Amino acid sequence: TKRIAVLTSGGDAPGMNSAIRAITLSALSSGFQCFGFFHGYNGLINQEYTELNTDSVTDITQLGGTILKSARCPAMLGPSGVLQAANALRKLHIDVLIVIGGDGSLKGLQVLAEHWQGQLVGIPATIDNDLSGCDNTIGFSTAINTATSAIDKIRDTANAFERVFITEVMGRHNGHIAYHVGIATGAEAIISFENCTAENTSQVLAHLKNAIKHQHQHGSFLIILAENLWPGGAQALQTELNNNADINCALCVLGHIQRGGAPSVEDRMLATELGVAAVEVINGNIKANTDVATPVMVGKIHGAIVVTEVEKVLNMEKPVSQEWVQRYQHYLAER
Ligand code: F6P
Repeated sequence: TKRIAVLTSGGDAPGMNSAIRAITLSALSSGFQCFGFFHGYNGLINQEYTELNTDSVTDITQLGGTILKSARCPAMLGPSGVLQAANALRKLHIDVLIVIGGDGSLKGLQVLAEHWQGQLVGIPATIDNDLSGCDNTIGFSTAINTATSAIDKIRDTANAFERVFITEVMGRHNGHIAYHVGIATGAEAIISFENCTAENTSQVLAHLKNAIKHQHQHGSFLIILAENLWPGGAQALQTELNNNADINCALCVLGHIQRGGAPSVEDRMLATELGVAAVEVINGNIKANTDVATPVMVGKIHGAIVVTEVEKVLNMEKPVSQEWVQRYQHYLAER
C-alpha cells in the first residue's frame, strides 16, 4: 500500500479543504494510507503530521482556510531545509507527496525532486489565478465573488455621496482579480498590470482625471486598482486625485477578506476534481507521460484534466490575455 503525504502551502485559498477531502477519500478507496502535514513545508521539516481518515475530512468541504494550516516556508529556499524535508519523507516511508498551493509551493516540489525519489504532485490553489497549466486555480472563483459583493456595497455608499472610490484588490503581480471584479461590478475604471506600467502612470492618471471630470456628475465613479502596482501604493493615487479641488476620493483596501469565507460551488467542485485526479495520477489511471520522479501539476483546461510538468508551469506566466484586455478596452482608465 502506498503512503501519501498531503500539505497546503502559501496563501490559503477557499477550496483547499475540498481538495484535502477529495485526496483523502480517493486515496482510502484506492487502498492507500494518507497523512496530512501541518503548516505547509514546515510540517514536513518538523515531522508534524496526522493520519487522515474519513472522519478527519467530514464536514470540511464548506470551510474556508485549511484544516492542515498553511505557511510560507523560508527554510525551503535553502539547501538545509530541503534536505530535512527529504529526510523526513524517507524516514516516514512516504511514497508520494501532494502539495496544494501556488507557485512558491510548486517551487518547493521542484527543489525536493533533486533530493527525493518519490512521486510529487501539485494542485494549483491560490486566489491570484497566476498559474499556467490550468484555466482557474482553486480559490479564484470565491475571491472574485467576495470582492464583487464587497464592491457592490461600496457602490451604494459611493452613489449616496456621488463619490469617487478606489478599491484595491489582491492578485500579487497580475490582474485576474482586478479585471474580473472590475467588469462584474461595472467599475468605471480598472487599473492593472495589463494596462498600466511604471512608464505610463502619469498618462493613466491624466486619463483617469479626465474620465472622472466627464462621468462623475452622473453619480459614483469606481476605480478598481490591482495591488503592488501604483508607485507609492493606493494611498498615493488617492492623494494625487484628491489634489484636485473638484475630486473627493475615498480608498478601500479589501485585503485578506478576499482570501477567507466559504468556498463557492465552483471552487468546491474544481478542488474535488483535482484532488481525485491527483490520486488517479498516483494509481496510474491518468497517465502523466513523465518519469514518476518528475513533479507534475494537475489542472483543468477547457473542461479536461491536464497533467503538466511543474517545471513548465513555473516557466510560463499566465497574465490576463491582451486579447481580453483589448476587447474590454472601453472599461479601462485609458479611453
Ligand atoms: O497569493 C495570495 C495573496 O493573498 C496575494 O494576493 C497577496 O499579494 C499575498 O498573498 C499576501 O500575502 P500575505 O498574506 O503573506 O500578506
